[in-house]
Amino acid sequence: MSHYFVENPDVLTRERELELEIFGEKLRFLTNNGLFSCDKIDEASLTLIKNLPPITGAFLDLGCGYGVIGIALAKKFPIALTQSDINGVALEYAQKNAKLNGVSSNVIHSDGFEKIFGAFDVITLNPPIHAGKETMFRLYEESAAHLRPGGSFFIVIQKKHGAESSVKKINEIFQTCNVIYKKKGVFVIECYNTVTSGTQTNTTRSLG
Ligand SMILES: C[S@@+](CC[C@H](N)C(=O)[O-])C[C@H]1O[C@@H](n2cnc3c(N)ncnc32)[C@H](O)[C@@H]1O
Repeated sequence: MSHYFVENPDVLTRERELELEIFGEKLRFLTNNGLFSCDKIDEASLTLIKNLPPITGAFLDLGCGYGVIGIALAKKFPIALTQSDINGVALEYAQKNAKLNGVSSNVIHSDGFEKIFGAFDVITLNPPIHAGKETMFRLYEESAAHLRPGGSFFIVIQKKHGAESSVKKINEIFQTCNVIYKKKGVFVIECYNTVTSGTQTNTTRSLG
């Protein structure tokens, strides 16, 4: 069985183009069989994009797939964009799509942060559910370790995908986790660590 995060060029047989109207612009995304959400831009990713507060600085689109989150945000905000994925084919599409939409992106083929050095002001993640909890939790931990002081990690989590365990994990890792969007079982959560150590203000334990 082929999962979207497993690199398998054999399944790439039908390139297609998706359109996205966002922030007053028409963006185009090339994609192909075997990539995550290749027929339709993922609703959870769109929810994440539309609900971020203004961002700036060094930005990492972790697990970027064919690049929607980082490219859409780079059209709106003054960010220095890095995009990474374990799937090299997805990454090739992210690179093509950045070019197609006039965005500059530094793409890195990496399992988690294995090949990513340096730190970021903002990291976003629509987690790879099918990769399993061990991988997802590692990505949360590594993200925390690669945030600049004052930086934020934004994650979109869906209740139907077992959000409770992810929420428990991010609350263990970060001092502060705030739900900034919550509707129909989809949550966008901003996590950060304050520079001075203080009382934990975990606010996401209940997704009710
Ligand atoms: C749910 S998809 C989101 C894709 C893209 N951000 C989007 O919104 O369309 C998760 C992505 O994480 C990638 N991924 C899975 N395991 C990974 C790992 N260990 N390190 C980096 N990326 C990973 C998958 O290849 C996939 O592209």
